[in-house]
Amino acid sequence: MKEIYAKDIGNYLNKRIEFYGWIHTKRIHGKISFIILRDKTGTIQATFKEDKLKNKYQEIINIPDESVIKVIGDVKEKPKGGYEIEVEDFEIINKAYPLPIEIWNEDVKTQFIKRVQYRFLDLRRDEIRKIFEIRSIIINTLRSFLLNKGFIEFNTPKIVILGSESGSDVFEVNYYGKVAYLSQSPQLYKQMLMASGVDRYFEFSHYWRAEKSHTPRHLSEFYGLDVEIAWIKDLNDILDFFEEMIIFLFKNIKDLADVKVPKSIPRLDIKEVYKLLSDNNFKINFGDDLSTDAEQKLGEIIEKEYGEDIVIVYGYPTKHRPFYTMKYDNDLEFSKSFDCIYRGLEIASGAQREHRYEKLLQNIREKGIDENKLFYYLEAFKYGMPPHGGFGLGIDRLVKQILKLNNIRESVLWFRDVEHLIP
Ligand code: 4AD
Ligand code: MG
Repeated sequence: MKEIYAKDIGNYLNKRIEFYGWIHTKRIHGKISFIILRDKTGTIQATFKEDKLKNKYQEIINIPDESVIKVIGDVKEKPKGGYEIEVEDFEIINKAYPLPIEIWNEDVKTQFIKRVQYRFLDLRRDEIRKIFEIRSIIINTLRSFLLNKGFIEFNTPKIVILGSESGSDVFEVNYYGKVAYLSQSPQLYKQMLMASGVDRYFEFSHYWRAEKSHTPRHLSEFYGLDVEIAWIKDLNDILDFFEEMIIFLFKNIKDLADVKVPKSIPRLDIKEVYKLLSDNNFKINFGDDLSTDAEQKLGEIIEKEYGEDIVIVYGYPTKHRPFYTMKYDNDLEFSKSFDCIYRGLEIASGAQREHRYEKLLQNIREKGIDENKLFYYLEAFKYGMPPHGGFGLGIDRLVKQILKLNNIRESVLWFRDVEHLIP
């Protein structure tokens, strides 16, 4: 394993080291050549001299940039500051072909799709690798928050017999001759767990949805965090918890990304949102779902009126939410559901769930879903199901919004959409 990195080279002053890296650039001056070597932490100059390396010297002059090399030499201080390696010997480990994409130009012009094809080269650039380093930090900050709160991380099945969110946009799988689907979300399983005594569940997992739309916000395969909590009093328990989690995350990453840590996340009833949008000349009818444009407009209004870039909207119309969502007992057309809109884009959806068997059955029938297909799920509601709720948070969207990326495809390594199945 590589142990000596470019950024730490000063620790080895006057010592002989073996250094592994890529050839970044070369300056050849007859009998002496200065070659900049690179690893993920930065660059270091290596000085090659013909009188020392003899016949081998010619080899280095012809080696293409981005080849992988090992140098053996002594770390010295450079006359004008910084360090260099005075090369005693070297080995060319892997010679590079001419590069198919631009990496080191000031202004990379290679098309995004080609850069994704050559992600492993694209990732040699700091600014691209940072996206994934920060993505990893975001995931693990959320994970440590949840573990600290007594949550248990589960893994539920991803090959299922029914879509949990809506029937239409599922991917079919031939499962030993039977029709099965790739999971749209862990929804049904996480709710079943609530009947078990597990009252604080979370899971990071892939979701699959056959999204035919071409947008900068949708993928066919995306990553999400699911949380489910039992023994809740009402939806506010979920909203309070969600808010605490987001504030914890933003505090922890504020030195890595341009995020604003909110004091609290404004919460608006969708009925107020209809009014707010209408008052701001955005056409929307009472009872509508919030379109992408509506979410964007709402984001602008919240920024203006509350000075925040994040908002929770709750109380969505029942007709726009899945069957498992609890309705308000005194206002059946509206539900105890919420979305979190961050910088004008939905990043999470959640709700208090209907835990009462008869009412759940009624919801299922109202949505025209075949209850027999939900048999195994419905069983969990018959033998003591505590009140519960939770949410799903889209990680790729969260990363996109935190890093202000133009397209969700930039926040995943190799994306899946209608046209793209490779690499
Ligand atoms: O809003 P969704 O569909 O909600 C659920 O799946 C529920 N089971 C959550 C719950 O616990 N009630 O998906 C959750 C989140 C969205 O808010 C969004 O951030 C993201 O997943 N998402 C997508 N991200 C990328 N591409 C897509 N096609 C997405 N669809 C949803
Ligand atoms: Mg949603």
